Amino acid sequence: IDPTLDLFAEIEKLKKEKNAIILAHYYQEPDIQDIADYIGDSLGLSQEAAKTEADVIVFAGVHFMAETAKILSPEKKVLLPDLKAGCSLADSCPPHLFKKFKEKYPDHLVITYVNCTAELKALSDIVCTSTNAVQIVESLPKDQKIIFGPDKNLGAWVAKKTGRDLVLWNGACMVHEIFSREKITKLKERHPNAKFIAHPECEEAVLKMADYIGSTTGLLKYSINSDAKEFIVATESGIIHQMQKACPDKTFIPAPPTNACACNDCPYMKRNTLEKLYLCIKNGLPEVTVPANIIEEARKPIERMLEISA
Ligand code: 13P
Ligand code: SF4
Repeated sequence: IDPTLDLFAEIEKLKKEKNAIILAHYYQEPDIQDIADYIGDSLGLSQEAAKTEADVIVFAGVHFMAETAKILSPEKKVLLPDLKAGCSLADSCPPHLFKKFKEKYPDHLVITYVNCTAELKALSDIVCTSTNAVQIVESLPKDQKIIFGPDKNLGAWVAKKTGRDLVLWNGACMVHEIFSREKITKLKERHPNAKFIAHPECEEAVLKMADYIGSTTGLLKYSINSDAKEFIVATESGIIHQMQKACPDKTFIPAPPTNACACNDCPYMKRNTLEKLYLCIKNGLPEVTVPANIIEEARKPIERMLEISA
């Protein structure tokens, strides 16, 4: 790419030419968030993918999100700037092992967190996101037995909030498991008026310390509506871009990780760059495809989720 090229202007031009829409998750780098047509959490992005009239969906997020968009809009071309933008949580639940796990609980209904492969969704009864997980569990009869996967931290939080006994798959997100309880405690002592806000993918010990727990959209709304001026944020750092934009007079401190070498960036989300986004719209690839039989099976549990959270 010519380094003098104005990528923002070029991308805008290509978007019109190809009738493409850019959907970006809050964990994308700031430049990508700024050029996106829609920025949101996993639920908002899937709702947007289901209703868009564009011919091409450029998904600035990770692979499972682009797959979900493809499942909901199979006639559209779905592009992902870097096919290696995967997810440690989705990887922690290989479908062939989950199938065996599920066979041990034949009378259980399967709820899967959207952060999983299309193949796993095809093995599920209802999909959920961190925004609607509690609502989806509560929409089911009290005596309904439930398997929840792949995130054990989100699952444990939902079990606690709903008072239900969920059978959990032992999966987790590498970004949300790095936070240090000790360092957060010290940071809170130095910022006694700061609110500590956390994503439910964090470990229970960290969630116990939180003033507010919610999805990325939930955290953003809380920071906007709260009277507090300082926030310690336990999730991927990309969301801070939106928080800072919405509240320029407030301070957002990323929650400290246990290991000094670690950071709150998701290495998968951050594989996408503005350059790769430009090349992807220009060349019409890499494209995300999902086999027709998986689309058919995975669509039902996703649509069930969209109906419940409509
Ligand atoms: P939400 O944006 O739906 O809260 O999801 C967080 C996440 O980990 C996405 O990878
Ligand atoms: Fe997956 Fe965690 Fe990255 Fe989200 S933040 S894409 S759950 S690894």
